[in-house]
Amino acid sequence: MQFTIQIQPSNIEFKSDENLLEDALSQSIHLEHSCKTGDCGMCGAEIISGLVQNEHGEILEQGHVLTCQSKALSNIVIKANYYPELAHIKLQTFPCKVAKFTYVTDDIVSLTFRLPPTINIDYLAGQYVDLSFQSIKRSYSIANACKGTNEIELHIRKVPNGLMSSLIFGKISENQLMRMEGPKGTFFVRVNNKPLILLATGTGIAPIKAMVEDLVRSQDPRPIHIYWGMRYNTELYCSEIIKLANDYNHITFRAILSRENDGQAFSGYVQDAVCQDFESLENFEVYACGSLKMIEDSKAKFLSKSLPPESFHSDAFTPAKQI
Ligand code: FES
Repeated sequence: MQFTIQIQPSNIEFKSDENLLEDALSQSIHLEHSCKTGDCGMCGAEIISGLVQNEHGEILEQGHVLTCQSKALSNIVIKANYYPELAHIKLQTFPCKVAKFTYVTDDIVSLTFRLPPTINIDYLAGQYVDLSFQSIKRSYSIANACKGTNEIELHIRKVPNGLMSSLIFGKISENQLMRMEGPKGTFFVRVNNKPLILLATGTGIAPIKAMVEDLVRSQDPRPIHIYWGMRYNTELYCSEIIKLANDYNHITFRAILSRENDGQAFSGYVQDAVCQDFESLENFEVYACGSLKMIEDSKAKFLSKSLPPESFHSDAFTPAKQI
């Protein structure tokens, strides 16, 4: 049975008969979320009225629920983060072809997809798409800024025994036809005057690259501090972001290596490098993309350095995105 879901304080409504978050996204209602598996807590909402069934099968009339794990059992009103900045973003499903691909490390491939000329995609840097190929669907962050081209770049890491990995690594070829659904996600740079700290581990650099490209393109004057964590120096594949840091005085870049001490990069974890560099994070805005562990640890450490909780934005790579 289909129910009406009202979001407060924005007064936006959508219809739902199954998963609250998926139904919202399918109607281009961008509720805050990241992992979609119940791990990150970012999709939390407060029940104001109505009945909601949570992930444990409990029926609640009040309290806190995760929209990615819950369904409505009546018309409901909930308090949740909704972003008007994304209101113009329309969810689309469309075919795409592999225009080029490069194995940038032993276990990461950068893929550029060409979209049909009839598709006019609009997204904010930091958002992701669901990629479908041979009945397997996985979520990947878009690695390029939306600049009027009809190309989308994705960075895909090989997952041991991963179904999508087994279809792509060593097998992909140019002009391979796939499908995409998107754009999705609430990871995007908010408009304010605070200097930015952009934090990534592994292929989490993909949405950070898109964000930096977009900030440069729009001549955003905010200082940008980029921290990218990899295991080894040879894995620092994203030369574009290093070049941007070299080209612009207001952008700094620090490589962080967790398994190697090459005498140049910081040896350890990205969050510790940030804590080493800044006495207080009170006036910063942080965007972090990578493993859930890095994000949770970063948030705890940064809040203890006076970062306001609302200034920490994240996109967690978890099995949640393996739809
Ligand atoms: S817990 Fe729902 S999106 Fe992460």
